[in-house]
Amino acid sequence: MIKKVNHIAVVVDNLEASMKFWVEALGLEMSHREHVASQAVDVAFLPIGDSKIELLQPTEDESGVAKYLQKRGPGMHHICFEVDDIDAALVRLKAVSVQLINEVPMVGSDGRKFAFIHPKAANGVLVELYELS
Ligand code: CO
Repeated sequence: MIKKVNHIAVVVDNLEASMKFWVEALGLEMSHREHVASQAVDVAFLPIGDSKIELLQPTEDESGVAKYLQKRGPGMHHICFEVDDIDAALVRLKAVSVQLINEVPMVGSDGRKFAFIHPKAANGVLVELYELS
């Protein structure tokens, strides 16, 4: 069902300031940045092999990511697994009573499907599933 880790998302106060650690100290490269309007975040993408770190900076005070930052401070936000068939994955998880945030996949601006599993079902970790094909 799960092919690999697609990305790990980290919430930061300020993307520029966060580069001091992730790029200057750790030596990762930022491939690109984009604004994701639906989530109200600016995202910096830092590839590591086939996976990447995504740094998220909220751009609106009322967004989910902004509230997370206000409540818990900067830190790991979610881990994303790539799956072959997200519809089948969600059906399978529902069948074993895993609490889902999205029972039906959402569709990103690029047409790719994704869904979140509730942290209560995953030892406190917000898990994203992502279908690339
Ligand atoms: Co994600």
